Amino acid sequence: MNYNQIPSPSYVLEEDKLIKNLSLLKRVQDESDVHIICALKGFSFHNVFPLVKQYLHGATASSFHEAKLVFEEMKVKAHTYCPVYVPNEFDEIQDISSHITFNSLTQYELYKSKMRNDISYGLRVNPGYSEIETDLYNPASPNSRLGIPRNLLTDTLPDGIDGIHFHALCENTSYTLERVLESFINLYHPLILQAKWLNFGGGHLITRKDYEPEHLIKILKAFKAKYPNIEEIILEPGSAIGWQTGVLVSTVLDIVPNGDFPTAMLDVSFTCHMPDCLEMPYKPAVLSATENGKHEYNLGGMSCLAGDFMGTWKFENELKIGDKIIFDDMIHYTMVKTSTFNGINLPSIGIWKTDDTFELVQSYGYEDYKKRLS
Ligand SMILES: Cc1ncc(COP(=O)(O)O)c(C=O)c1O
Repeated sequence: MNYNQIPSPSYVLEEDKLIKNLSLLKRVQDESDVHIICALKGFSFHNVFPLVKQYLHGATASSFHEAKLVFEEMKVKAHTYCPVYVPNEFDEIQDISSHITFNSLTQYELYKSKMRNDISYGLRVNPGYSEIETDLYNPASPNSRLGIPRNLLTDTLPDGIDGIHFHALCENTSYTLERVLESFINLYHPLILQAKWLNFGGGHLITRKDYEPEHLIKILKAFKAKYPNIEEIILEPGSAIGWQTGVLVSTVLDIVPNGDFPTAMLDVSFTCHMPDCLEMPYKPAVLSATENGKHEYNLGGMSCLAGDFMGTWKFENELKIGDKIIFDDMIHYTMVKTSTFNGINLPSIGIWKTDDTFELVQSYGYEDYKKRLS
């Protein structure tokens, strides 16, 4: 990538890396005969939805607006699961969804009279097992509000329900999925026998280097052999699609000498543009940083939030105003979570194409900030 062609700050998707991820996901999909769909909450880069559609089986939405984006930009009906449906949005959600999943029996009862023959309906359940240590990201803890617990269901699927959905993984391997499936089967076997489709949620980090796709294919095939009544198994990863597919380009605007290490003040913000770094928390990789560099800096965001900085990075050379700082792996769960807190502008969005050209697809300004306020 030639960073001189790219405005700072920008999220830049590398098209060839996305195609590589999508090709692997398609291979898993084809070899295991399941449907893989893109979870918008992790990856909503709609400019490339036509490309995603060439490889995957559609997309999943967890709000009205996400469903609308799927319908408008991927031109397919969404698999929609909302933790709770807003009454005045439900009719339009039905018009643009092929599958609708309810998070509770009360939601099912509320919308039962509106259920239609051209839509397949499901219930989200709590599979009773997960291996996610951070509570903030654990949707299957015993007290989770997401998914019906086993004790609230009988041994019969309610009228009109064809599918069962769970989501219990977060950046996990197929070995974790295997253990979740064991618990799911133990708890829900009689209901699985009555279902036509199952959705095993997201969190399958299939495109990470150490993931073993062959093992995933093996357990999916074994599951299908055990339950021949299941016509469709769906996986809905978000992270795996955008994993390692691009960067956030930023620039050093100042270097303040305060404290133990100088801080390079950037034209980006952790809280506004990379909020997971503070929420998880995790320290993102910076492309020019090295393990043993002689010059150590804090990298600081441009908001007034005292905590808008992350640890320190080491560089071979002293940083100077105008230097580019490139944060790696900044395409999933970044632009879907940005804010304009403090009036900080949003980074532009661009694509580094397979023919080595840069395409700027979106940029923002004052009006975007003002419109969110009144
Ligand atoms: C219901 C559901 N499906 C899919 C996903 C996507 O998960 P990931 O991006 O970790 O693959 C999430 C993430 O929170 C989710 O809540």
